[in-house]
Amino acid sequence: MEILKTKKRMQQWSEARRKKGKTICFVPTMGYLHQGHISLLEKGRPLCDELVLSIFVNPSQFGPNEDLDAYPMDIESDLRLAKEAGVTAVFLPQKEEIYPHDFQTRICLDSLPHHLCGKSRPVHFGGVATVVTKLFNIVMPDVAVFGKKDYQQFQIIRQMVSDLDFNIEILGGEIVRESDGLAMSSRNAYLAAGQRESALSLSRSLHLAGQAIAKGEKNPAVIEKKLIAFIQGFPETRIDYISFCDPTTLEPVGLIDKQILLALAIRVGKTRLIDNALIDPSQ
Ligand code: PAJ
Repeated sequence: MEILKTKKRMQQWSEARRKKGKTICFVPTMGYLHQGHISLLEKGRPLCDELVLSIFVNPSQFGPNEDLDAYPMDIESDLRLAKEAGVTAVFLPQKEEIYPHDFQTRICLDSLPHHLCGKSRPVHFGGVATVVTKLFNIVMPDVAVFGKKDYQQFQIIRQMVSDLDFNIEILGGEIVRESDGLAMSSRNAYLAAGQRESALSLSRSLHLAGQAIAKGEKNPAVIEKKLIAFIQGFPETRIDYISFCDPTTLEPVGLIDKQILLALAIRVGKTRLIDNALIDPSQ
């Protein structure tokens, strides 16, 4: 497994392989790898000749009062896990390598970033779209895998790739959960022991909503009211949003008469957690 720290070396590595007719699968991450990240590597591994992982905590996707400085890191463990998962190259750049001092371009999308997490994180998705564009140009993959845990991010990348004609196939990996249902996240490391139970309010809300919809409830407002009361029953929870929306446009729906995305963001103490599920009333 090669570790490449500069754009030039990464591009040369990819170009050399592409010239030989090799295909490249890419999984971008911010590190502190867990089974959710590993599942994306496992999905990508059999699809291409080479498997590239990037580890870069991207400053441009963090707002001024967010957790950039506190974001957890463990490069040694990440490199060990990457090797075990069959990664053939790790792109591990420094901040200055990605954002030189004169950097001034930003990718923005018209509507997808304004829903769900974009409402409380106005700079987030512009930062994600920009860094992913740069990483695509540096790694030059044939296929890239993103997790549906960050469903809005996944949709934004798919839209961007289609709009800007990137010749890259985007695949989605299912959400990987702890045995108690909590969606795996690098940010779970912030949760104190007593907050862990409150964090389960997210996955349990998805389950409750699924049950209500299966019983025939079609009005999102009725289910939302139940979920608010349920979530508020857990200590230290603060709801950022609960959204019943169209899985493609992320626009809120007024009636649950076809498959919807239920997406949640809840603060547990100072930790902001997200989760989601696609729910189909006909199933
Ligand atoms: P990060 O949060 O490190 O996540 C990297 C990838 O892992 C994303 O595609 C994310 O959706 C996926 N992932 C995280 N937890 C998961 C889980 N429990 N199950 C399945 N997949 C999971 O997302 C980012 O980094 C950044 O925004 C990035 C795309 C790298 C751009 O900076």
